[in-house]
Amino acid sequence: MLEVRNVVKEFQAGEGRITPVNGVSFTLPQGTFGAILGRSGSGKSTLLSILGGLDKATSGDVVVDGVNISTLPEGRLTEYRRTGIGFVFQQYNLVPNLTARENVMLPMEFAGLAREARSSRAEQLLNEVELTPDLHDRKANRLSGGQQQRVSIARALANRPRLILADEPTGNLDEETGERIIDLLGSLCRREGTTILVVTHDQALAARTDVRLRLEKGVITREQPAG
Ligand SMILES: Nc1ncnc2c1ncn2[C@@H]1O[C@H](COP(=O)(O)OP(=O)(O)O)[C@@H](O)[C@H]1O
Ligand SMILES: [Mg+2]
Repeated sequence: MLEVRNVVKEFQAGEGRITPVNGVSFTLPQGTFGAILGRSGSGKSTLLSILGGLDKATSGDVVVDGVNISTLPEGRLTEYRRTGIGFVFQQYNLVPNLTARENVMLPMEFAGLAREARSSRAEQLLNEVELTPDLHDRKANRLSGGQQQRVSIARALANRPRLILADEPTGNLDEETGERIIDLLGSLCRREGTTILVVTHDQALAARTDVRLRLEKGVITREQPAG
């Protein structure tokens, strides 16, 4: 379960200040597939980073399965980032000179899995995101944007996190591949009870989620289910 309580994020911008997140509250029960919608610059990536413990809120609380991550000491926060959540970055953030497979193996190394097990799980995950086997051992900086995006999704799933946060996960995929990534995320929610929150402009993706939240002028409104 993800509980967001009155989260505010303020940035100093020259003389003034901007507040892209200005009192955001919502709750996602475990196993919910949620989407955050909103125009470019509306604070979606900023909010997602805070939920993932990658950035600190100016005020407010983020509570994941009863643990308030806003007040965790740095060591425990790192632990949470490594094992509790899978984060799909808008710009992928792969290690450029490691191969696709090595990138997916990395989080499992932090989790203490043996090398053989890491390698075979990485392979399985890369197949699930439909990266063809000939690309598994290619360096990340030699992969296209869409290929890197799929590696970054596989990496996020590596440690079977209870919460997946994904920033535009289908943004660089063709329609057909995007559709299958959406199927994969949807089935994780239903089969494994993973909570997934995606930032997206993709109507096909948004239409498949259980809950749609729109971020505008720093606040969230819940969209009514379509039709
Ligand atoms: N580290 C930062 N310092 C100052 N301003 C920032 C920083 N990060 C984001 N912003 C600003 O916050 C606003 C929201 O950005 P962002 O969360 O990236 O929006 P979105 O993901 O919805 O496009 C933008 O005006 C952006 O310029
Ligand atoms: Mg963004």
